[in-house]
Amino acid sequence: MTIPRINAARLWADLMALGKIGAVSGQGVTRTALSDADLQAKDWLLTRMRDAGLETRTDAVYNLSGRLRAGRSRQVGLIAVGSHLDSVPQGGPFDGALGVVAGLECLRTIQEHGIDLPRDVELINFCDEEAAHNTGTVGSRAMLGLLHDGEIHQTVSPGRGTFADALRRTGKDPAALAEARRQPTEFSCYLELHIEQGRRLENAGIQIGAVTAIVGIYRYLVTVTGEAAHAGTTPMALRNDALVNAAPLFTLLPEWVHACSPEMVGTIGRLEVHPGAPNVVPGRCRFVVEIRSQHREDMAIIRDQIRAYAGARGGWQVDTLLEKEGTPLAEPLIQAVADAAAQEGLSWVRLPSGAGHDAQSFAAAGIPAGMIFVPCRHGISHHPDEWIEPEQAAQGCQVLLRTLLGQANRA
Ligand code: HGY
Ligand code: MN
Ligand code: MN
Repeated sequence: MTIPRINAARLWADLMALGKIGAVSGQGVTRTALSDADLQAKDWLLTRMRDAGLETRTDAVYNLSGRLRAGRSRQVGLIAVGSHLDSVPQGGPFDGALGVVAGLECLRTIQEHGIDLPRDVELINFCDEEAAHNTGTVGSRAMLGLLHDGEIHQTVSPGRGTFADALRRTGKDPAALAEARRQPTEFSCYLELHIEQGRRLENAGIQIGAVTAIVGIYRYLVTVTGEAAHAGTTPMALRNDALVNAAPLFTLLPEWVHACSPEMVGTIGRLEVHPGAPNVVPGRCRFVVEIRSQHREDMAIIRDQIRAYAGARGGWQVDTLLEKEGTPLAEPLIQAVADAAAQEGLSWVRLPSGAGHDAQSFAAAGIPAGMIFVPCRHGISHHPDEWIEPEQAAQGCQVLLRTLLGQANRA
């Protein structure tokens, strides 16, 4: 089959236009899930999907999809492509956005070249991939029935409230969550293009990553309770300062992780001190500990160390927020991505992902999932300096199209 060329200029123009939504000069892109900027980006995508003649749908948890119906007798199982438009606070313009815009470009190219496929193809933008309220990949897990009971009513960021609160603010009813549910049998496979968010490809001078697995992520909310007191009149020896009590763990965690495995990472990226006034000794501090590894047994070691450390001290509480295991991707799709890169004359390598992705939800639901990585500059992501070159976007998109067409025409 002759593979049509995507419109690289249109792809890049869309990425730059989308990148302006939620952008603040010098502070990157902030399109946290269901914020005004995220809703603006969803409207932007809906307009472009309709302009492309796709059948659009917004589901009960604000996932958006644009479907291209097969012409011939439709075979069972559609090909889904997608990613997420929501970002971390002060993130970059490509994390998630590249996969959504490239998916749109693929469907437009298929349409424009009158390619008649035996399977439907659907572009999906998943809501709240970036854990704006609690855990991440909320939209894809809601679609595939993988959310935990009550999960959307919990939050680790009181400032932003829960996913359910945010959904309600958009006029949707969180109680209708189940209406977003779709059956795994609807899907033949899922493909996602994404920036690597690491340095492997750039350091090796390789153009395409055929992703083999997605990292496991464990997250715990740790609450340390002390005693609030006047910061001026309370002698140091009489204090029960929650932040001082918690502080040793902030340096112990990296030591434990380093001692456990060179491949593992551990982060405390969210810390709240209560009441948070400069003239009050902290009465409580809460922070989220996140550990990531491809190996569950290593993450269990660190989890048990955290629990033992907390258990040996008064006023400590550890609540589990997320325990998502590392997920292998589908071998036939890994190979299909590698073959597509080779057929495009691009260098490629198989590599695991240290970042979480919606593809993980599909793999966890038993739907074959594949991912394509392109390098990003110095591996920088979740940061205003996140960047890729137009040629890299086009190469990734072309490999996505070739892989998608190969899967659509598979017997
Ligand atoms: O956190 C992650 O790994 C992804 O960027 N959401
Ligand atoms: Mn991200
Ligand atoms: Mn992402």
